[in-house]
Amino acid sequence: MGTDIEMTVNKLKMSYTDEGPDNAPVIILIHGFPLNKSMWDKQVDVLIENCRVIAYDVRGHGNSDAGTDDFSIELFTNDLIALMDALKIETAMLCGLSMGGYIALNAMIRFPNRFNALILCDTNCVADTPDAAEKRMKSIESIQEKGLEQYAIESLKNLFAPESFVTNKEKIASIKEMIMKTSVQSLSSTLTALSKRKETCTGLASIRIPVLILVGKEDKITSPDTALLMQKSIKGSILKIIEHAGHLSNIENSYEFNSQLITFVSSVKSK
Ligand code: MLT
Repeated sequence: MGTDIEMTVNKLKMSYTDEGPDNAPVIILIHGFPLNKSMWDKQVDVLIENCRVIAYDVRGHGNSDAGTDDFSIELFTNDLIALMDALKIETAMLCGLSMGGYIALNAMIRFPNRFNALILCDTNCVADTPDAAEKRMKSIESIQEKGLEQYAIESLKNLFAPESFVTNKEKIASIKEMIMKTSVQSLSSTLTALSKRKETCTGLASIRIPVLILVGKEDKITSPDTALLMQKSIKGSILKIIEHAGHLSNIENSYEFNSQLITFVSSVKSK
């Protein structure tokens, strides 16, 4: 894991790592909810051989401050662009998992000239249905009533494939720890932001850069079927299903995930 760097961005203390050769192509990694940049450790290890790799904590997660504004995917995107500006990164490859993918798609549609490749992992382009939004409100109540640990235990059941509970116990423990480190205030604000997010499916046809879509075969939150729908809407995009993985495919099967990621990144770099 790289050294944590802090910088004030959008009047907010943001925490990020910046590794790999200075003059190499840049890739930015955006984590899922309610996790932090350390979920990318296994990808950073391999990407730094050929890329400058930035992994950052979305506001209210990891070591980044929460600030006082209401959370929204648009605000998270504004933070990303402000971070790129502060680091003088004009264009980058962008890789996001789940919530990170929602941010990546929002950024891609609003700031198309800032990105030269997109990796969408275990994510989707639809907005929450009224039922899904209601479930998030119930989660906020339940965190307040039953506490954070119970919420973390319930979340793990959806995040991982059943087999990971046998084969990946240490990884599950580290994800539980990440969830428990997120403040109740940030969890509630992010759940509200996720419930209000706008769809990005109608913007997919306008994407003109190389796109790789990765999804765990047993992802219960953003299924392979929804990944296939995105793939059909993005001209020239590639879809790879990661075996032996649920929603956290980069962690549950980092070997296969990294192999697909590196192949894609190398093909973009050689263009
Ligand atoms: C995530 O992994 O970021 C979340 O599962 C996203 C969501 O709940 O929609």
